[in-house]
Amino acid sequence: MYSRITGTGSYLPQKVLTNHDLEKIVDTSDEWIVSRTGIRQRHIAAENELASDLALQASRRALESAVLSATDVDMIVVATTTPDMIFPSTACILQAKLGVAGCPAFDVQAVCSGFVYAMAMADLYIRAGHAKRVLVVGTEVYSRILDWTDRSTCVLFGDGAGAVVLETAPEPGILAFKLHADGSHSNKLSVPGNVFRGQVSGTPFVQMDGGAVFKFAVKVFEEVAHEVLAAANARIADVDWFIPHQANIRIMEATARKLGLPMQRLITTVDHHGNTSAASIPLALDESVRANKVRRGDTLLLEGVGGGFTWGAVLLRF
Ligand code: ACO
Repeated sequence: MYSRITGTGSYLPQKVLTNHDLEKIVDTSDEWIVSRTGIRQRHIAAENELASDLALQASRRALESAVLSATDVDMIVVATTTPDMIFPSTACILQAKLGVAGCPAFDVQAVCSGFVYAMAMADLYIRAGHAKRVLVVGTEVYSRILDWTDRSTCVLFGDGAGAVVLETAPEPGILAFKLHADGSHSNKLSVPGNVFRGQVSGTPFVQMDGGAVFKFAVKVFEEVAHEVLAAANARIADVDWFIPHQANIRIMEATARKLGLPMQRLITTVDHHGNTSAASIPLALDESVRANKVRRGDTLLLEGVGGGFTWGAVLLRF
């Protein structure tokens, strides 16, 4: 028994914030942001839109493309760093908004690697026979955890959601995955705050050592690609599409170069939605599927890296 993606969906909030808009908020320039990151604009959730609302839109689209209804789903896994609340999980809130009850629903917290982690969880449940149709969602409202006076972080992130439906299949599907974490780097990318006896304790905004993250990301993206390919007995030449976490065009291009992958096989959508953390891979996947770029039978290499540090890869046949 294997798991296979049968539907994809995504959602970006209506409000667009361009680099030129940001020039009016902080001391930055479109030229600086584009040349350093490849980002031109990002989407910002409305005041009353929560991570579960973005997730709901993406999930409905994924279910529609899988020709399923919410009642068909027997597990919901949500990857998010920006949950609606401390508890219940965003997955439970999403479940209620989808109008269903009963199936297990839980969040996975692995920051920008969250979607890759969540896919691995869903694959394991399906292959072990505990689930047949799993809704896997990445959803983020990073605009809520950014210090909009800090130009070194606020220009990088955006809000959005992406989802896939994974179902049982006689053929793979997911060929292999590899997950990693190294908590000794936890201070290099974090939101080091929480609520403490009714007060915000620590810092409720993204803190980042950009240079350290950049170097680490390029290193582990290359390593984990080789690991997951070896696990599936595949080669880099077998990869039709490389869909890395959409954080920074320079990280993605450097990785593709190191792997010897032609740039035409690298999917990038970061220019129009910025870094949407756990949502970025399913967003990029769904856009590429709807653009008829990614087709049935293509081999995809998905890779995530983020706070923790966490990182991982999924190799799959679409
Ligand atoms: N606009 C203009 N100038 C800026 C801005 C800005 N938005 N932000 C920083 N600067 C300035 C800095 O203050 C610095 O000025 P100084 O030289 O006078 O001190 C100068 O630009 C250069 O800064 P660097 O940090 O050296 O710029 P760099 O080329 O390294 O790019 C960046 C910075 C884009 C953050 C890069 O390090 C990066 O992309 N790192 C990866 C971080 C990332 O992607 N994080 C996302 C989360 S992690 C993840 O998703 C994997």
